[in-house]
Amino acid sequence: MRRMAILTSGGDAPGMNAAIRAATRAALAQGWAIFGVRNGYAGLINDTLQPLGAREVGGIVQHGGTVLGSARSAEFRTEAGRAKALRNLAQRGIDALVVIGGNGSQTGSHALAQAGFAVVGVASTIDNDIVGTDTTIGVDTAVNVTLEAIDRLRTTGSSHQRAFLVETMGRHCGHIALMAGIAGGAEVIAIPEFDIEPHEVAERLRAAYQRGKTHAIVVVAEGAKHNAQAMVQHFAEHRDAIGFELRLTTLGHMVRGGIPTAADRVLATRLGAAAVQQLARGEHGVVVGTRGLAIATTPLAAVAGQTKPVDLTLLELARVLAQ
Ligand code: F6P
Repeated sequence: MRRMAILTSGGDAPGMNAAIRAATRAALAQGWAIFGVRNGYAGLINDTLQPLGAREVGGIVQHGGTVLGSARSAEFRTEAGRAKALRNLAQRGIDALVVIGGNGSQTGSHALAQAGFAVVGVASTIDNDIVGTDTTIGVDTAVNVTLEAIDRLRTTGSSHQRAFLVETMGRHCGHIALMAGIAGGAEVIAIPEFDIEPHEVAERLRAAYQRGKTHAIVVVAEGAKHNAQAMVQHFAEHRDAIGFELRLTTLGHMVRGGIPTAADRVLATRLGAAAVQQLARGEHGVVVGTRGLAIATTPLAAVAGQTKPVDLTLLELARVLAQ
């Protein structure tokens, strides 16, 4: 009988619980024994694992965060840390691992796969920056949370003739800002993949003001070269350059907390089950994600250390439509 462990690692993402539930129950259906690892790779090193049955993963599909806990483990990045984790797995007779996490976590999966361990990654990060998959668990919720903030700020912005800078998460990737900015009709979108200088943002805001707009929204990805703080600084020094009064809202961890959308729950359920199917077929060393409507796998070697680019034609489209 196969003995499989599941862990969630890196920044949590709404939908991780649905993936834990699906992977556990799909593996139980194969007749396997399942173990949940506490707090990501740190739990492998500390040997904090617990058996998971169908009831242990009941009533969690609708909850954000991860019931297993998550962490970023510096020790796991060392040879010695990984060797300890592998020793603990061997002692428990565990011969397969599902890693639900983002780019950094899948770099960890790759290291285990290189050491000969059967590991399958599940693409899970609000950043949506994993190569080989169109989408990742959590990004739909993160985009919708950002969009709700934009919609709300627009109404108060209109009442006061204000421009709002809205800073959202995404680390080095502009996907959340770009998608929420397009869906929210933002006047300007600033992302790490395409530099926009603060003076150009000011020009676009002034032009919007002169065209008679009653509000303006600038969505700034946290990883943009000129981040929200840099823009605030610029506008403080050029106070009358834009017409609008300016306010900043930083969304921070709001973006990845709370209830997962239906799309994230369904995606996570499909990917969690697909990871188990991969292992059942004896195929591992991959990340499961999607391409189009289908489940797609990508070798961990192609994923580790890479960042998926955003579609810059969408940024240009947003610029044209912000007239
Ligand atoms: O990778 C997910 C993410 O939420 C990024 O968007 C963000 O930059 C980072 O994690 C924040 O990390 P932490 O929760 O450790 O502050």
